[in-house]
Amino acid sequence: MAMGTRKGRERQEEIWYRSEVAEAPGHPFYRKLEAKLKEAGFDRFCEEECKRYYADGVGRPSLVPGVYFRLMLIGFFEGIDSERGIAWRVADSLSLRQFLGYGIDESTPDHVTISRTRRLLARLLGVVSIALLAYGTTVIAGATAQAPGVADQATVSASAVAQGRALFVQACATCHGFDARGVPGMGPSLIGVGAQAADFYLSTGRMPLNNPRDPPVRNPPIFSRGQINDLVAYVGSFGGPPIPVVDPARGNLAHGLQQFALHCAGCHQIDAAGGIVTGGIAPPLDQATAVQVVEALRTGPFLMPRFTAQELSAYDVNSIARYVLFARHPVDRGGWGIGHIGPVPEGMVAWFIAFVALVLVARLIGERSEV
Ligand code: HEC
Ligand code: HEC
Repeated sequence: MAMGTRKGRERQEEIWYRSEVAEAPGHPFYRKLEAKLKEAGFDRFCEEECKRYYADGVGRPSLVPGVYFRLMLIGFFEGIDSERGIAWRVADSLSLRQFLGYGIDESTPDHVTISRTRRLLARLLGVVSIALLAYGTTVIAGATAQAPGVADQATVSASAVAQGRALFVQACATCHGFDARGVPGMGPSLIGVGAQAADFYLSTGRMPLNNPRDPPVRNPPIFSRGQINDLVAYVGSFGGPPIPVVDPARGNLAHGLQQFALHCAGCHQIDAAGGIVTGGIAPPLDQATAVQVVEALRTGPFLMPRFTAQELSAYDVNSIARYVLFARHPVDRGGWGIGHIGPVPEGMVAWFIAFVALVLVARLIGERSEV
């Protein structure tokens, strides 16, 4: 019965999520950035600075300066260093069109137009870049700090998001898309999965996958902790749950055992040594840190179900984390641990020993005495 209701809720959420994506008016990052640029009077500033070049008699430039500098910002955030690359990217993306103020039916600037404007404004570039750098950091910090789920992590800086963005383009965009909205048949959308899922998948080396059809498994992470923090900051900038705060010392071991037996042991075995589930393997939990245990149960990677805060409270998950850490060094009160291989194989070991003993006894009794 309980399983039936969880399934129902998951489906409902999926439907809600899909319509949310369809309605979402744009990439949350560019939306915030646009709001900040507007607030800072970016267009007026650019137009003031560029006025003399327009009146030069060089001819009417095809791009207004505000659009041109937005294109440069896109190049920076998307990690694209050619005008042709920027033009292609913009033509393909709804949210970037929106950021530039182009409708779906309008054609976006091609690279020839972009480079013509660059030549025209060449002398200005230095001035504007310096001005951009000066208030750019505050603008971008505002854009990321206001994204839901990130606001409470004071440590997330604008430069971490920008660096994470650059890493993402190199290592993740083929499967998750340049705007993290996913690519059909390759990888899911990461909008709203949050820092929590990103930290779990990256710190356990599950991402990046080599092949989208491979099941994600624990591997040594290919990124340094600093790079992981940047990627996590970037994925987190789209909103979603932050990395959970876990303190096993606040949990209770007996309660943890009870909750683990109820929710986890069916797949991971009561001693957390792992087991086989339909279609995959529930791994042993001997390497997961306390934070990764809670990230896993809140995220529900691959075939594992997700547990909400209503199903498992902070106290429950602290207790579970405490139990998982404890189960690594169990005290074998009953005597011999037999490698902690789980109740069914352990039972078979008992039968095997009993069988050998029975045969021996039978042979002893049955032996003929020479009288
Ligand atoms: C070869 C394709 C591929 C590459 C490259 C890749 N991923 Fe994934 N990613 C996937 C697939 C497929 C899944 C779904 C796996 C599953 O079902 O658990 C996934 C899942 C995820 C999830 C979990 C999403 C959720 O719904 O909870 C995160 C977070 C993630 N990837 C981040 C990254 C990051 C960050 C990178 C770059 C460092 C990356 N991925 C690179 C294919 C890829
Ligand atoms: C339906 C079976 C199932 C249940 C129930 C389940 N898990 Fe899992 N769990 C899995 C599978 C399958 C994976 C591997 C997912 C992957 O590789 O992406 C996994 C992965 C994990 C990992 C990551 C291990 C690592 O070292 O990378 C942790 C931690 C974990 N589970 C903890 C839990 C906890 C705690 C519970 C109970 C609250 C639980 N699981 C319930 C099937 C399950």
